Parts: sequence; C-alpha cells; structure tokens
Amino acid sequence: MTDASFHVFSDLEAASDALARTLIERAQAAVAARGRFVMSLAGGSTPNRLYQLLANVYRDSMPWEYTHIFWGDERFVPWNSPESNYYRVHETLLQKVPIPSSQVYRIITESGSARTAAQLYQAELMSFCRINPELDQTFDVALLGLGEDGHTASLFPENLPQEFIEEDEARQNWVKAIVGPDWRPPVQRITLTYAALNRSDYAFFLVSGASKAKPLAKILNKEVGHSAYPAAFIKAHSGVHWFVDEAAHTGM
Ligand code: 6PG
Repeated sequence: MTDASFHVFSDLEAASDALARTLIERAQAAVAARGRFVMSLAGGSTPNRLYQLLANVYRDSMPWEYTHIFWGDERFVPWNSPESNYYRVHETLLQKVPIPSSQVYRIITESGSARTAAQLYQAELMSFCRINPELDQTFDVALLGLGEDGHTASLFPENLPQEFIEEDEARQNWVKAIVGPDWRPPVQRITLTYAALNRSDYAFFLVSGASKAKPLAKILNKEVGHSAYPAAFIKAHSGVHWFVDEAAHTGM
C-alpha cells in the first residue's frame, strides 16, 4: 500500500475540477486496460459540484458506456428521499449522462431492513468482482468524503473498535448495516467496510471547509489520536489522494 498524498486548491470549485480531470484519466486508463471503469461514489454534499462538472463540462470526456457506479454508503431511506445518497447523484449526474442503467448499482432501501439491504448489496458487489477474479480489487476508484468527526462513508468512530476491522477482513464482510450516531440522522445506514473499500486501486477524498481542518490535520499528520478517525484507516493499492481546499488545509 502506498502512502497518502494531498493536493491543496484555492477553493472547492478548483478542487472539484482537478478531481474531475483525475477521474477522467483513471477512467480512460481503466477502460484501456480492462474495458471498464468501476467507481464507488461518496455521499454527502461536498461532491455535488464534482458530479455537476462530470455531468456537464466533462460529460463527453468520461467513458460512460464502460463505467460502473457503486455507492460507498447509503441511508436507509427511499431512493427519492433528499437524504438518499443515490438521489443526490441521480439528480446531479445520472439523469444527464449516457451511463447504462444496468451499470448503476444502487443500494436497495425500499424493502426489508438495513441488514437485508446490506446482505443484498454484498452479494451484488461480490458477484460483480468475480467477473474479473484475476483482479484483486473492488473499484478502480473509491471516492470518499470526510466527516467532522473523521468518519468516511458510514464508518463512524462509535461503530469501529479496531477488532471489527480485522473481523470484516477475515470474514469478507464487505457491506454492513450500522446504526449511525443519532446526532447525524438518518440513523439506519448501509456502508461498505474497509474490507471492500481498501481493495480499491485508488481512493480519492474530496474535503472542503474549515470544519474539516481538525480531522484532516490529525489524519494527514498522523498525530496522536488520529486512529480515532475512521478515514485514517482507508488504504488503496495505488494510493490514497486527498483533494482539499485551503479552508480545510488551514489546520495542517
Ligand atoms: C454520508 C457520506 C459521508 C460524507 C461525510 C461528509 O452518507 O453522509 O457518505 O461519509 O461523505 O459525512 O459529508 P459532507 O460532504 O456533506 O460534509
């Protein structure tokens, strides 16, 4: 696993534009090498501008017909809820680009429970990865955000004693239902685990704003206590890259 590297930009617009161009490079390289590009998307609001850029300015640069999209996490709400990570991407990106609907792998949250939703998604992701068994990876790119408490996807400090990380790896638990902290509703969530995320070729974080400066500094400086931040445990075969704006970088 290579170390993390970070790239600082004047603002979220510049960081989003640089990340969009990097995603295009990765997508074109993956399609040239393997005939497809597989990406898991971040939820939350930070990537909205990135998704808009991919849907408009860079629409014709992305190989959408060969792109497969998963989600790093989802809230257990209907697909068209404003709280849904799928819905955000549906509105800003999916409706505007020619990606085949069969290549959009949504976490199904309309039936059963968060637990059954996680089981179904794990089966779908594992089955998808078996198509290329020679590839010891899940995604070409895992796109991730950072919470103020250092969480990423729906991997929160409250849910992640160290032993769970090893257990998920050992048991190949790739998707889990978790009860998020009640300060960050909706509480029922489905998340990819480190066992799935850390099998990515690249992990790209997009981080913006002064509220993220503290966890960002702790994680990137590997300061004491950084291990309380779930995002600190993200790895990737070819590297973890942080795309951050100046406001988030002030604490470095
Ligand atoms: C979620 C996300 C979560 C997000 C961070 C940052 O479902 O909320 O997956 O991990 O990336 O909380 O959220 P913002 O971009 O809204 O600050």
